[in-house]
Amino acid sequence: MSSIASSSTPKRAKPAATALRTHLAGALTRADVGREVRLGGWVHRRRDLGGLVFVDLRDRAGLVQLSCNPAWTPPEVMARAAGLGAETVVLVRGTVELRPEPSRDPSLVSREVELHVTGLEVVGPAQTPPIPVARKEKEELPAEELRLRHRVLDLRRPELQRNLLLRHRLMQATRRYFDHLGFLEIETPILTKPTPEGARDYLVPSRVHPGEFFALPQSPQLYKQLFMVAGLDRYFQIARCFRDEDLRADRQPEFTQIDVEASFVGVEDVLGFGEGMVEAIWAEAGITVETPIERMRYADALERYGSDKPDLRFGLEIFDATEVFRPADFSIARSAIAAGGRVRGIRVPGGASLTRKQVDEIEASAKSLGAAGVLRLKLSGGVLEGGPAKHLPSGAGSALGLSEGDLCLLLAGPDRVTSPALDRARQEVARRLDLIPQGATRFVWIVDFPLFERDPATGALAPMNHPFTAPVPEDLHLLGTAPERARALAYDMVLNGTELGGGSLRIADPSLQRRIFGLLGIPEAVAEQRFGFLLEGLRAGAPPHGGFAFGMDRIVMLLSDADSLRDVIAFPKTTAQRALFEGAPAPVDAADLAELHLELKQGGKCVKSEK
Ligand code: AMO
Repeated sequence: MSSIASSSTPKRAKPAATALRTHLAGALTRADVGREVRLGGWVHRRRDLGGLVFVDLRDRAGLVQLSCNPAWTPPEVMARAAGLGAETVVLVRGTVELRPEPSRDPSLVSREVELHVTGLEVVGPAQTPPIPVARKEKEELPAEELRLRHRVLDLRRPELQRNLLLRHRLMQATRRYFDHLGFLEIETPILTKPTPEGARDYLVPSRVHPGEFFALPQSPQLYKQLFMVAGLDRYFQIARCFRDEDLRADRQPEFTQIDVEASFVGVEDVLGFGEGMVEAIWAEAGITVETPIERMRYADALERYGSDKPDLRFGLEIFDATEVFRPADFSIARSAIAAGGRVRGIRVPGGASLTRKQVDEIEASAKSLGAAGVLRLKLSGGVLEGGPAKHLPSGAGSALGLSEGDLCLLLAGPDRVTSPALDRARQEVARRLDLIPQGATRFVWIVDFPLFERDPATGALAPMNHPFTAPVPEDLHLLGTAPERARALAYDMVLNGTELGGGSLRIADPSLQRRIFGLLGIPEAVAEQRFGFLLEGLRAGAPPHGGFAFGMDRIVMLLSDADSLRDVIAFPKTTAQRALFEGAPAPVDAADLAELHLELKQGGKCVKSEK
């Protein structure tokens, strides 16, 4: 294979200059004063002041004020400027001059200079915009649905443009990082076979093969493993993935992963690639990430924070209070302990200052995750107060590690229920007591995941990650006896309580892969039918390999301080899984369905064929 050299960047002296313009409006500075320039852009705002017309002209670089004055602007141009409506596209000509008084409007990038207009031409007339692009200071945004419906106007907002610019820069930094390390960017198919990543597939019917379907990839997982089998050695892709799952602010049905795989690696190599990538991406955003990134075992994360995505920006660690409650005559605790559960909780220093209503709200959020209730204790004037206090022996306050003014929130029950509820309670308390330092970033690798989890209802084993994850070699013997105790060579990276990415070393041995399918209750014939192409690859001589995938959208969301993935994706879907601007999904013509050998069941919408 030839060497993997970086390509050189083509250089252009004046990237803004094209046939119709010489400069970017928002990029004009003092240095341009006296220059005759031509600009193109959108009318952001227009003001008429006693025979003078001022227009803020907007382009991708920002705004500049156009000054139309009979002293330098011909009468027909004055008239045209006076009639300009918002969002009209114009070409203007004029001279750059210092503004008499520099504008204090921080949204004007070129606030030191203005353009004395000598020519102006409307090239893109615009209807009155249904949502405003220019807003007054502190004016609220229109409702999100409306903005998504008119996304192309919304995308003119500088905030969204900034997010997309940041996204671009982070993607380029990612590419440079992997290119430099000799990773090849290779595209994988979009029309493919189902890959099990735990969500439902989007299916695409085949016209040529009646009754058969492609699936859109939930991730390029199997292909990237096959690249390793093919000897390509180091792969990455900024890959589009599709998952039909319930949406939240940090989930989209169509999203982008930084997907990576490498051969002849150990866990340390892969974590090193991940850390280097995070350093490079955060550096592009101007933030230094301290490496090595802290690691925490999955079991410890659950014990101390109730979650495998712990937010480490604040304390409030979970502790086990079972032994304090065991001897007490307190039925809630007693029955939970008798059923194999525990009493666990958090100590909130100074939390006695939280109002009853605030604690009720925290309790309600814990209950929404299945907790029966939250036990409250507080140490006030040296006395332990709260519902369970009278059932506890004297000295229980210090046994629970409480200091004066502390609040203690406790949950009794199986860990499966108390862990997520305590995780939520931690977050709610931190928010209410303002415990999260501004700008704090706490990365952590979660390691030593279990290979499987058991469905509490059926007892069936399911992969914790995906079924191609390699077990820790020392735990292989557990596969026959206690598979749920076997650990995986898997890792997740978590930032401030959000999962950024994760991966694993993979199973390279086809017989071990078949054994894992067997433990997951996938019969051999089904495994061959679904994953035969992977098994065939593994049988062809597979190197040890591993990798990871990070959520690109989530990274951009966190680095741009956006509240939702929708603010960092050009054309996102709503939580109701609709593309409002394009109007998708949409009913299709009955004839098209027929061609795909499909028929809608009664109740499904279908457009009557006109063919
Ligand atoms: P996983 O399923 O953990 O792993 O996905 C990796 C990362 O992708 C992001 N992500 C999402 N982002 C937005 N919307 C979604 N619906 C969504 N789902 C996932 C998250 C997540 O951490 N093939 C494995 C990786 C591997 O083993 O190499 C995989 O896809 O940030």
